[in-house]
Amino acid sequence: NSVFVAIIGTGMAGLTAARALDKAGIAVQLFDKSRGSGGRMASKRSEIGTLDMGTQYFTARDRNFRTAIREWQEQGWVAEWKPNLYQAREGVLSASPDEQERWVGIPHTSAITRGLLGDLPVTFSCRITEVFHGPTHWTLQDASGQGHGPFSHVIIATPAPQASALLAAVPVLASTATSATMDPVWSVALGFEKPLPTEVQGCFVQDGPLEWIERDRGKPGRDNRLDTWGLQASSNWTRKNLDLPKEAVIEQLYGVFAELIGCTVPAPAFALAHRWLYGRPAQPHEWGVLGNAGLGVYACGDWCLSGRVEGAWLSGSEAARRLLVQL
Ligand code: FAD
Ligand code: NAI
Repeated sequence: NSVFVAIIGTGMAGLTAARALDKAGIAVQLFDKSRGSGGRMASKRSEIGTLDMGTQYFTARDRNFRTAIREWQEQGWVAEWKPNLYQAREGVLSASPDEQERWVGIPHTSAITRGLLGDLPVTFSCRITEVFHGPTHWTLQDASGQGHGPFSHVIIATPAPQASALLAAVPVLASTATSATMDPVWSVALGFEKPLPTEVQGCFVQDGPLEWIERDRGKPGRDNRLDTWGLQASSNWTRKNLDLPKEAVIEQLYGVFAELIGCTVPAPAFALAHRWLYGRPAQPHEWGVLGNAGLGVYACGDWCLSGRVEGAWLSGSEAARRLLVQL
């Protein structure tokens, strides 16, 4: 009765579960539809260097998560980021310093998930379309029709809408996952030849199309030729502009940014837009993990908790813990 666990998704939740199982001596096999690991913590290569179009920083409140961060810090994957923070309300920018600890991956967010993946066995560019439960084992099927398995257990660590499809063998869990709706997020990077004459490094925008503005320069471990900024649209604006061409998204959000930031903003030398269809859960939940211990299937991800990196880590840890206590 050998234990062999399939893990679908190599974001923070899937990788955290994989690491915990691997540490306990359990064999795992990871799958991801993307070409690399990280999910919403992946960084994107571009002609001006690597850009964080998803998570740009994260906070930590849970004691165990803070311990994990200290380990990542020792590995050189993360560093504390102490930005000059601002907020904008009704178009008015004001300094808004606080005492919150914030962490960033160095030199990019993807350093964390790449570090966690290490040399764990993984199949990339492999979109799992079906998860079958046979009389004794689980098997997976990918989009090309190829089968994978047999596995004793399956951990589904994808955003909720993708998890509900993969949970078809366990309808109760599938319908819970279906109830966790996720909101889309447009994310734009702008690169300027000359540094913008402003002290702003991060700005919480309380109203309007943008929600968060941040400057890459000044973050630990960065080495950018251009002065690169990240803009994240609100879910409301994103929903209304879901099918806008990327050029139009860039133009509109650039306009909002230029008006808000309070200094002269030239045309960017570089711009990139990315649409996250499943950017963030519409509400937090307190599920921790969805699972059926008898069948040996678990679903985890940020949507089971707080909708943040910390929530994904906690959910992935809990999936591994629940699986291990059942062995
Ligand atoms: P994901 O990272 O989404 O990982 C799921 C993985 O599953 C992906 O790699 C995907 O390719 C894979 N997958 C999906 N379906 C399949 C399939 N059928 N077969 C195979 N693989 C599949 N959090 C913070 O804490 N602070 C922030 O400031 C912050 N900012 C954010 C900004 C943006 C623009 C976005 C989009 C997110 C932000 N978040 C932030 C949220 C944070 O990124 C997520 O909470 C966290 O990364 C989720 O991890 P996860 O493992 O649950 O899911
Ligand atoms: P946090 O504590 O830095 O921010 C949480 C929220 O508190 C902010 O959204 C902001 O509204 C407010 N806030 C915090 N500090 C502030 C300050 N100095 N001045 C004014 N307002 C301030 O980080 P936390 O709790 O870890 O949240 C992470 C961030 O990531 C949040 O902004 C959240 O909305 C965002 N997020 C974005 C996602 C996306 O897809 N765009 C997905 C998940 C999270």
